[in-house]
Amino acid sequence: MSTAEPPSDSSHDAQALLALARRASDVAVELIRQRRPPGRVPVQRTKSSPTDVVTAIDQASERAIRAVLLAERPHDGFVGEEDDSVVGTSGLEWVVDPIDGTVNFVYGIPAYAVSIAARTTTGSIVGLVTNVASGVQWSAIAGQGAWRRDSVDEIRLTVPPPPEISEMLVGTGFGYRRTRREHQAIAVGHLLPQIRDIRRIGAASLDLCAVADGGLDAYVEQGLSPWDYAAGALIAVEAGAVVQGLYGQPDERLVIASHPAAAREFLELVVACGF
Ligand code: IPD
Ligand code: CA
Repeated sequence: MSTAEPPSDSSHDAQALLALARRASDVAVELIRQRRPPGRVPVQRTKSSPTDVVTAIDQASERAIRAVLLAERPHDGFVGEEDDSVVGTSGLEWVVDPIDGTVNFVYGIPAYAVSIAARTTTGSIVGLVTNVASGVQWSAIAGQGAWRRDSVDEIRLTVPPPPEISEMLVGTGFGYRRTRREHQAIAVGHLLPQIRDIRRIGAASLDLCAVADGGLDAYVEQGLSPWDYAAGALIAVEAGAVVQGLYGQPDERLVIASHPAAAREFLELVVACGF
């Protein structure tokens, strides 16, 4: 491909972007499966706290994804969890978590994912989340719906109608810093008696896909980074969920997701719980 002419903002073909994201995800999934040793995966280093771990495979996965995406679209920006960002000129930016659920990956718990989103200044236009262990893949294109693909078939997703708040199964997660965890534990302590139960699956991208897929009734978490939720949020929205923050768009302060019929009540509840 010529690198002389950056594509204009209007040139983004969402189907082509999704196909490219799938190629990058396939490469990363293959790399992660091949390089994961049996048992525990060695930790390479820690980041924000001793519990915030990175393996050499997280880093290799990000390099592989970046190479595939930018080889085909060299003028795009790239934001990944593990390495420096690339500022692009095309108006499109890839937002990538090379392994979401790294702690699960280290311990061999089969809930870790490759998460890839493409976004412009107006928001995400493509999202793809792949569960590395199972191979199940969730995808979405803005305005065109969300799908779940496994080895048998591909189905379009619609968020099921919500139960009463008291019967909701709610996914959540915890950050890596001690003070944030103390705060989150108190808020979850207020929430738990008011709902069916809590699930801490360990990968925010999979939590959001579970809301899209009916595997959770709702999701709440504070302290997420864009690579944790960019793809999953689009998938949940395209399946019909409301994904919001405290004042509108989801952000580091708060990400919640639920069926639209429960969105207002759920937001009020999590705020009352101290999230
Ligand atoms: C983490 C996971 C986890 C969430 C944390 C994230 P990582 O991402 O998504 O479920 O609770 O807030 O940081 O570190 O495994 O990529
Ligand atoms: Ca990660």
